[in-house]
Amino acid sequence: MMDNEIPYTKKLMGTINTRPSWAFLILLFTAVAILTLQIKNEKPVLPIWPLSGRVGFPGRVIEFPGRVGKPTCVGFFKNVPERKMVKSIKYFGGIGDGKTSNTAAFWRAMRFMETWQEKGGAQLNVPRGRWVTGSFNLTSNFTLFLEEGAVILGSQNPEEWPIIEPLPSYGRGRERLGGRHISLIHGDGLTNVVITGQNGTIDGQGQMWWELWWNRTLEHTRGHLVEMMNSQNILIYNLTFLNSPFWTIHPVYCSNVVIKDMTILAPLKAPNTDGIDPDSSKNVCIEDCYIESGDDLVAVKSGWDQYGIAMARPSSNIIVRRVSGTTPTCSGVGIGSEMSGGISDVIVEDLHVRDSAAGIRIKTDKGRGGYIANITISNITMERVKVPIRFSRGADDHPDENWDLKALPKVKGISISNVVSFNSSKAPLLEGIVNAPFEGICMKNVSILGLPPSARWTCKFVSGSSDGIHPPPCPELQNSGPSSWC
Ligand SMILES: *[C@@H]1O[C@H](CO)[C@@H](O)[C@H](O)[C@H]1NC(C)=O
Ligand SMILES: *[C@@H]1O[C@H](CO)[C@@H](O)[C@H](O)[C@H]1NC(C)=O
Ligand SMILES: *[C@@H]1O[C@H](CO)[C@@H](O)[C@H](O)[C@H]1NC(C)=O
Ligand SMILES: *[C@@H]1O[C@H](CO)[C@@H](O)[C@H](O)[C@H]1NC(C)=O
Ligand SMILES: *[C@@H]1O[C@H](CO)[C@@H](O)[C@H](O)[C@H]1NC(C)=O
Ligand SMILES: *[C@@H]1O[C@H](CO)[C@@H](O)[C@H](O)[C@H]1NC(C)=O
Ligand SMILES: *[C@@H]1O[C@H](CO)[C@@H](O)[C@H](O)[C@H]1NC(C)=O
Ligand SMILES: *[C@@H]1O[C@H](CO)[C@@H](O)[C@H](O)[C@H]1NC(C)=O
Ligand SMILES: *[C@@H]1O[C@H](CO)[C@@H](O)[C@H](O)[C@H]1NC(C)=O
Repeated sequence: MMDNEIPYTKKLMGTINTRPSWAFLILLFTAVAILTLQIKNEKPVLPIWPLSGRVGFPGRVIEFPGRVGKPTCVGFFKNVPERKMVKSIKYFGGIGDGKTSNTAAFWRAMRFMETWQEKGGAQLNVPRGRWVTGSFNLTSNFTLFLEEGAVILGSQNPEEWPIIEPLPSYGRGRERLGGRHISLIHGDGLTNVVITGQNGTIDGQGQMWWELWWNRTLEHTRGHLVEMMNSQNILIYNLTFLNSPFWTIHPVYCSNVVIKDMTILAPLKAPNTDGIDPDSSKNVCIEDCYIESGDDLVAVKSGWDQYGIAMARPSSNIIVRRVSGTTPTCSGVGIGSEMSGGISDVIVEDLHVRDSAAGIRIKTDKGRGGYIANITISNITMERVKVPIRFSRGADDHPDENWDLKALPKVKGISISNVVSFNSSKAPLLEGIVNAPFEGICMKNVSILGLPPSARWTCKFVSGSSDGIHPPPCPELQNSGPSSWC
């Protein structure tokens, strides 16, 4: 079972006479135990924790080298102790030649790692090499560690991404009716999971899936690169994720998730390759990430129409900080459009979006129900973004015929400040919903530059106040009198 244990034991056994004394057996047992302890762990490659300090209040300012005085995600993730068992994927028969399937090796590894979840936890190291695999499930008290030069490659066989149940808050697969392909790396009902390393890579090789989507032969909703469901205390840190078939990182029904120092890349035309989509989750902190993809860099969600309303699982206390990147057809940070379980208390700050369709986008629609409340957005820099600020009704996108026309979303309390957008093409476009106006919008110190002199704000069914805006905002945002939001 354990590394070298059997050979060593056999060797010792060979020296034993046919009738050993009990005292000798006890001695032998002790010797084997000590030897086992010494040899069972390979030299561990352990991450150096950047998130140090006492576990405290989310968003608390702490100090550590390089980021003195800057707010960090510390407090959203409770540090885990050093794992008791560390093994390489090679030990489980893995072959990193870029061709051999390692699905069975990862399954073996995870079955073994699982036996350590109550015994101090385990870490699976993936060394330098190209490791092709189908989907595998993580376990609790577990670290997946990608060493420098390690590349995990998603299998090109759709059967290695088996079909699982749709999410209850969506009622069906997001793209196709019925079940959906499982994510490449999957976790359900876990605690204390870390996915990290020395900037190793997880490459979903999504091209095949994008083609199935483009040529309309996709049978089931595409899988994510990493999906964590019903889990808590999750850290995804210091890695590169490439070419996800669908949304790249999807924490759903989770709490206390930190996603930090990640590089997430997909071709700019790759469909629905969102970077990070916190969905019906609370206490999620996304920090210091660079994202380039064919869809939103970050999209906060909480379920879809009647299914999301019935499940009523909101997303709240979400921080998106120091994220930069580009998405030519979508937005830097999107809220919605699936938001039927409610979204509140979102902070977006220090965002840098370039060459994109939108910077900040709030998306909802009739039938969604739910709410979007207490959204605070500040210090946003944009370059060559077409519509820097956009609020819109959705694209008539419903799960089935049974959506409720009367389920109107409530949007209230959106504060946007300290925004500068260079070389923009359009003034902000703010379109609320008939009979469900977006209220309590507060804009302060927003400069949309590079527009033709004729450019005007477009506002429908919105109300709020503003101060220090260029070009001058629409009358709907010029409410005088005290506002609790400004
Ligand atoms: C994970 O480890 C902690 C101790 O660090 C233990 O209390 C907990 O029960 C373990 N979780 C699981 C699911 O085994
Ligand atoms: C992984 O988990 C899913 C559901 O969470 C399950 O359907 C699947 O069989 C699991 N796969 C393995 C290899 O255990
Ligand atoms: C993050 O990855 C870089 C690049 O490989 C590595 O030098 C660094 O040690 C990693 N950081 C931590 C905290 O593991
Ligand atoms: C990790 O790799 C990506 C892609 O090569 C690179 O852009 C990024 O700077 C690297 N990050 C670190 C911390 O080395
Ligand atoms: C659609 O794309 C898939 C994946 O590349 C390919 O196997 C299939 O032959 C394509 N089907 C059509 C009708 O083009
Ligand atoms: C604003 O955000 C940028 C990153 O886009 C960051 O470099 C800068 O320090 C931030 N400014 C303030 C005042 O926090
Ligand atoms: C919004 O924030 C205010 C003030 O912190 C709080 O009273 C209110 O309950 C919050 N609303 C929601 C929907 O979270
Ligand atoms: C207005 O916003 C810009 C861009 O974030 C910032 O540099 C500037 O300091 C802000 N001005 C005030 C008065 O806050
Ligand atoms: C904006 O466009 C002008 C030319 O139209 C160019 O000179 C300038 O460098 C651009 N600025 C940015 C921030 O892209």
